[in-house]
Amino acid sequence: MKHKLLIYHKDAKLYGEILSKKLPELEICSASRPEEVLNFIEEAEIIFSWKIPDDLLKRAKSLVWFAAMGAGNEHLVNNPHLPEAVIFTKTTVYGEMMAEYVFAYLLYFLRDLPKYFRDQSKKVWGQARPERLRGKTMGILGLGWIGKEIAKRAKAFGMHVIGLKRNPAPMENVDQVFGPGDLKKMIPLVDYLVMVLPLTPDTIHFLGEEELGLFKEGATLLNIGRGKTIDERALVQTLKKGKIKAILDVFEEEPLPKESELWNLENVIITPHVSGINIPEEICEGFIRNYEKWTKGKPLTNLVDRGRGY
Ligand code: GLV
Repeated sequence: MKHKLLIYHKDAKLYGEILSKKLPELEICSASRPEEVLNFIEEAEIIFSWKIPDDLLKRAKSLVWFAAMGAGNEHLVNNPHLPEAVIFTKTTVYGEMMAEYVFAYLLYFLRDLPKYFRDQSKKVWGQARPERLRGKTMGILGLGWIGKEIAKRAKAFGMHVIGLKRNPAPMENVDQVFGPGDLKKMIPLVDYLVMVLPLTPDTIHFLGEEELGLFKEGATLLNIGRGKTIDERALVQTLKKGKIKAILDVFEEEPLPKESELWNLENVIITPHVSGINIPEEICEGFIRNYEKWTKGKPLTNLVDRGRGY
């Protein structure tokens, strides 16, 4: 008998096409609206999705494995309709892409690309001495599989890399690893602080007014993890003082409301949660690797630790 997979996503058809070619032994229902799954949901053994309405999830009586397309799945971790007995995995393909985002912005400003765009449009030959990444200090909050990719590239650029981890231990490409209790000691040391923290009860407003006041003049804060890990109201107040810059891909509320003051601040770059966008082929590769393990009864990788929250 064929195993039954429900793909629930706005691009479900695309995911379905990829997986049906690679895993023809699966019976797949690709749906982007609740009414498309009504005849399938009760029999689905695997759900492959980013977000699925609770009304559907609670009807998934045959579910044995929820394969989340997302990296951070805080909306599902404590969901009573996803019982402990259901295997719960996440997708960990976004690290390299998120690191590319970080260095795209760092180098854009360091090499003053906006000046050269302006100069070119006016046929101006105006050489300026660039700043270097070499020797600058990068701090990384969250040294998991995303933070690791950022650290690796920062080291390759000759940066001094420090980071903070729930359970601190020496790590490749990181010169100094701090624990959560050392946050206030770490912030004044950095030229760049990249936040890739998962959202858990421990990380909500991890940076508040006090921490935001500890940055050195001219430092840049990048948040590509979860908006709620920074107290956004305090962030706006800090940024208004002009001492630091921020590159923000995530926000307390998304889409960022039009009335947010962040839109108007000159020392802020806003992007719409795109540092690690979905590339279906890459996301499916991870699923397929785990599916092969699942059919052989082997332990799956990328399991979500419900206790830890990610
Ligand atoms: C997106 O932010 C994700 O966690 O996958």
